[in-house]
Order: sequence, then structure tokens, then C-alpha cells
Amino acid sequence: MTNEEMKSLIAKALDMRNFSYAPYSQYKVGAALLAADGTVYTGCNIENAAYTPSNCAERTAFFKAVSEGVKEFKAIAICGGKEGADVLDDCSPCGVCRQVMSEFCDDEFIIICAKSLDDFTVCTLPECLPDRFGPSNLIRPKM
Ligand code: THU
Repeated sequence: MTNEEMKSLIAKALDMRNFSYAPYSQYKVGAALLAADGTVYTGCNIENAAYTPSNCAERTAFFKAVSEGVKEFKAIAICGGKEGADVLDDCSPCGVCRQVMSEFCDDEFIIICAKSLDDFTVCTLPECLPDRFGPSNLIRPKM
């Protein structure tokens, strides 16, 4: 992925913070998920008064894509931080979101955690979730 492609994905994730529904944590997260065909699926965190039904921005983006039949992905950009803060947080995906990524993404999948268009870190899925339990543990090729 080029730097420009990463910045374009980050810009979409930053925009998505505007749709975040986070009245309980005031921690607004946006995500932009790049599918293998070039389509971008966006997401934000959606909280709930009962807390546990809350959904992270990353999973919102993944579930939007998968529910439209898309299951191959290249990268995701994530931007998060407290509402109104001058600088965004180093927002890294939670364990549940990493496991969801692991269901659909290969070892080349890139996770971009961005504080701004120019301040971001990049890691691969195996770096974020080593020794992952995944589909290959359950679905084996026929002998
Ligand atoms: N959250 C995300 O949406 N993505 C992350 O990577 C970390 C946390 C959300 C969940 C909750 O709505 C709020 O941020 C505070 O945890």
C-alpha cells in the first residue's frame, strides 16, 4: 500500500468519528476497511445503555462488508479518542476486533492506527494477534 492510499483510508476513518454514538464513554472511534476489490466499508463505535451490546468501529465496518457478501480485505484504518480532545489517542483494536479480523484476513492484512493523516503506525495482523486461533483450526482440507 502506498502512503497516499493509507492517508486516504485514514481520512475516511477520521470522518467516521462524526457518526460515533458514544454517550457513555465519550470515546469516539472511526474505521475505514479497504476490501480486496478496492471498495471501502466504513464504521463507527455504537454504544448501548446496557453496555454489552456496544459495537466497536472496526466490527461495524467488517459486519457491513460481510453482510454485503464481501469477505476479502487488504487494510483497515482506525482513529479514536475522547470527544473534544485536541489530539487523538493511540487507538489500537480491542481483542474481540482482532479476532474478527482474523476470521476474514490473511497474514498480509494491514492495521493502521492513526492520530492524524501524518501520525500513524502500521502493523500486520500476525503482529497484532500472534498464534491466532482461526478458521484453519476447524476447517481442514479433505485428505
Ligand atoms: N472502541 C472501538 O470502537 N474500537 C477500538 O479499537 C477500541 C474501543 C470503542 C468501544 C467503546 O464504544 C469505546 O471505544 C470505549 O471503549
